[in-house]
Amino acid sequence: MKKIEIKIPHKTYPVYVGANSIAQLPKLISAKQFYKNVFVIADRKVLELHHEKVEELKRNLGKRYFIFEFDGGEKNKSAASVEKMYSALIQNQFGRDTLIIAIGGGITGDIAGYVASTFTRGVQLIQVSTTLLAAVDSSVGGKTGINFGETKNIVGTFYQPEFVLIDSNFLKTLPDEELICGVGEILKYAFLTDVSFFDFLNKNLDKLLNGDDLVISKIIEKCVRFKGDVVTKDETESGLRKILNLGHTFAHAIEVEQNYAVKHGQAVAVGLTCALYLSKEIGLLEEEKFRHYLELPLKLKNKVNITSFNADSIYQIMRRDKKGVSQKIRFVLLKEIGKLVLDVEVEESKVFNAIHEGISCFLK
Ligand SMILES: NC(=O)c1ccc[n+]([C@@H]2O[C@H](COP(=O)([O-])OP(=O)(O)OC[C@H]3O[C@@H](n4cnc5c(N)ncnc54)[C@H](O)[C@@H]3O)[C@@H](O)[C@H]2O)c1
Repeated sequence: MKKIEIKIPHKTYPVYVGANSIAQLPKLISAKQFYKNVFVIADRKVLELHHEKVEELKRNLGKRYFIFEFDGGEKNKSAASVEKMYSALIQNQFGRDTLIIAIGGGITGDIAGYVASTFTRGVQLIQVSTTLLAAVDSSVGGKTGINFGETKNIVGTFYQPEFVLIDSNFLKTLPDEELICGVGEILKYAFLTDVSFFDFLNKNLDKLLNGDDLVISKIIEKCVRFKGDVVTKDETESGLRKILNLGHTFAHAIEVEQNYAVKHGQAVAVGLTCALYLSKEIGLLEEEKFRHYLELPLKLKNKVNITSFNADSIYQIMRRDKKGVSQKIRFVLLKEIGKLVLDVEVEESKVFNAIHEGISCFLK
């Protein structure tokens, strides 16, 4: 099991990565003397598929142990679900000395993190990631959140866990569609990190999509280390951390406009494509590099199913996006791999072009 340290100024915490690392969870918890009142928020599908792992935890953990079975999905990443979690905590007499363990993907992690950060003004939190997307992105960095109305992740907090545990064995039951969602975020890192990682991905994308253990563990480690470095320098997204939003302003709007039929990671692949078009459109990204960079997200072309879209709606949803200041949309755009430009305001017509050109690449 590998241990990667995330050094946020006020809190250093480890990310443990390894096959079957879940078996180490009770030992890790007792070694640090975390609270013994354990409230597990677990994705229902994960509970069904990995029942014995969670039962094993129950045998080895906590004087009080309660499992909240959470039906995932963006629609349930909501205030209504948060209320149900608070109620279960109160009815089962959990108080400030609670350890919440989130077991699931990014949706479970985000909502459980939000509950952990607000219940009695903050209880202990451990993230156990069971999707590729959560492993490479959402479980690290402390962003929690829920959707409200039509706006994704508009309510949330920054709240760091005690530790994160990534057990690659969970990924073996992940449906292809969900693996691809993780791949979407991984493509983002290809543009944020360095040319050698971009080349590695360009060469090994098929292996990644086929669940090759070695390729996946190399990628998880690279992404966790990179994200860890970024959030260490800027925990609350006042500057550098914004680079992690590359492609996301488009992606969030596409998800909402497609009524969540396009999943987050798939939308990120499309959003990255739109961001590449926009970067080229405003003269930031040279034509030759643009063509080369485009190869990577377009490898997911057949894995994303969009049959029609409404650019007007997408644009309006983007204006509502919380990253906008005074209704102006500010983009993260790309000059070259590893060189991002933040807070770029772009005239409306160019944004419309980028929406059209980017999404059309994926149209069926
Ligand atoms: N907090 C952050 O920094 C951050 C970063 C990126 C994304 N996100 C959020 O992450 C969310 C998406 O996360 P996700 O893609 O992990 O989605 P998810 O949590 O919905 O999981 C995807 C699906 O996989 C199932 N599942 C989970 N683990 C499984 C397993 N091991 N085997 C089989 N099925 C399994 C779930 O039941 C669900 O149906 C979005 O809401 C996004 O906003 C947050």
